[in-house]
Amino acid sequence: MAIDYGVIDKIIALWGCTPSATLPILQGVQEKYRYLPPEIFPYMAKKLHVSQAQVYGVATFYENFSLEPKGRFIIKVCDGTACHVRNSGPLLDTLRKELGLSQVQKTTEDLCFTVESVSCLGACALAPVLSVNDTVYAGMTREKVLALLKTLQAQAREEVQAAGEEQSRVAG
Ligand code: FES
Repeated sequence: MAIDYGVIDKIIALWGCTPSATLPILQGVQEKYRYLPPEIFPYMAKKLHVSQAQVYGVATFYENFSLEPKGRFIIKVCDGTACHVRNSGPLLDTLRKELGLSQVQKTTEDLCFTVESVSCLGACALAPVLSVNDTVYAGMTREKVLALLKTLQAQAREEVQAAGEEQSRVAG
């Protein structure tokens, strides 16, 4: 994915060209791209007058930052104690199986889905839970997971189709 330096400049302008703005700028970039593209490090280093290692150091210090591209839908399956005892493990297995993913390969080739296991989503009373981007789904079962996946796949197909139509409209 090519990065849009105009967008990056806007994020930088929002926080200012100072080393102390490194963290919020990285957050803004990740919000836009769902990960930190490698080009961002030399670019930010130059703009903020710091070394690439300093920017990289901030990016790798916080585990919320990702250096790998993530999917349009980031599914986090909680495997904290409350969810684990209510069988969150099989839910994770179901998702991975349906999407051809594993503990190592977390993102589908088409960058549609990322499936991760997390330690607690803060909704233990509603276990087992998972989240898709910022939405939490409570009391999940295998059937609910499969239905949710179908809905998300349909949404993804619609988005791809809409993007294709928009592209041909602009090109035409
Ligand atoms: S253990 Fe799953 S939400 Fe807390």
